[in-house]
Amino acid sequence: MDDTRAGLIVKDILEGLRGVIRRHGVTYPEYRRAIRFLAEAGENGELPLLCDVLLESVVDEATGHAPGGTDSNVEGPFFAAGAPAIEAGGDGLSRLPMRSDEPGDRLVFSGAVRSTSGRPLPGAVLDVWQADASGRYSRFAPGLPEWNLRGRVATGDDGGFAIDTVVPCAYDIPGEPHTARILGLLGLEPHRPAHIHVIVEADGHAPLTTQVYFAGDPWLERDVVGAARPSLVTKLEPADGSGGAGYTCRFDFTLTPAG
Ligand code: BEZ
Ligand code: FE
Repeated sequence: MDDTRAGLIVKDILEGLRGVIRRHGVTYPEYRRAIRFLAEAGENGELPLLCDVLLESVVDEATGHAPGGTDSNVEGPFFAAGAPAIEAGGDGLSRLPMRSDEPGDRLVFSGAVRSTSGRPLPGAVLDVWQADASGRYSRFAPGLPEWNLRGRVATGDDGGFAIDTVVPCAYDIPGEPHTARILGLLGLEPHRPAHIHVIVEADGHAPLTTQVYFAGDPWLERDVVGAARPSLVTKLEPADGSGGAGYTCRFDFTLTPAG
């Protein structure tokens, strides 16, 4: 970000904050308490979560939507770069790393990646991550294998992919104290609908960060992050039983050519 733009944005933020202080007659003890609150949230590493819960969906709304492409969606605080590349097995499925007794129903998540022209994009890479059946993300919650339910999957010659994973569950964002306190003040419950995160990249195209949600999830309308949107909702279908999957779902991604 260049300094001119940064200066304009900082000026507006300060104007907003000064207006709040004047309007509410914020006292010295309240002012000092607010600073301590932010400092403590920073010290315990909670600021990325707090900001993503309260603000990220607005950044996505303001900047994220490329005409003709799949809608973007928030990345959230639980992405980890460097997930293992997953090769498709003999059954054509790319299996995300998971425990031998991974809880939850097995899911085959398939689809295709295309350009806005409709041309399939072979060799596109989907960097996929999701919570386990108790709503925990590997690398952030203790006791999970390092890359559990995370992996990078390349599309085949027809632009298609088929990922072997488990059905994610709706979950509560982690109950970190400062985030919980703010949500309590706002009267918000900490729930997110079930979702799978994905960053899709293909040569000559703008990368897409988005999430896929599931029809019928009661939290779609009351996502604490305010990110779930109808264009990103797919349907879980019971599988025919072959290959051990309990459910299937399909979602096709459309990438816009890089400007
Ligand atoms: C998530 O999708 O996991 C998430 C997004 C924003 C804030 C918190 C969690
Ligand atoms: Fe998430």
